Amino acid sequence: MILRAALVLLLVAFAPAAFAKTCKVAIGSNDAMQFDAAEIKIAGDCTKVELTLKHTGKMPVTAMGHNWVLAKTADFRSLAIAGQRAPAADDYLPKDDARIIAHTRLVGGGESTTVTFATAKLQKGGDYTFFCSFPGHWNVMKGKLVFG
Ligand code: CU
Repeated sequence: MILRAALVLLLVAFAPAAFAKTCKVAIGSNDAMQFDAAEIKIAGDCTKVELTLKHTGKMPVTAMGHNWVLAKTADFRSLAIAGQRAPAADDYLPKDDARIIAHTRLVGGGESTTVTFATAKLQKGGDYTFFCSFPGHWNVMKGKLVFG
């Protein structure tokens, strides 16, 4: 009986660790209003994504700020437009908006920021777009995220 209880405890302790896999991804951005990748691939066995956005430029966040926002491609355009009306303090994103799957804060030149999110929010083979929601950037600063 004690052995059995110990075995159950062992399973509870180790099972989540065995299946959890955090995948690290990095993307760069610059003073020329560009991301350095047009596509981000996330392997299907990743349970979490730890994405780091680096701004390799020199311009301040007020002039050339960048963030990384993930949404369904079907939601991308309407979300980006709504973001343009939001204040910089909210990272140019509507507050608590269900269309936002994940996002980083805004960074300026020389800064970087990281966001971690669960892939449970993603469907394998789904159509996802990442973009920068700084006003005027989203039409150029965008790409595809592929999961699976
Ligand atoms: Cu930007």
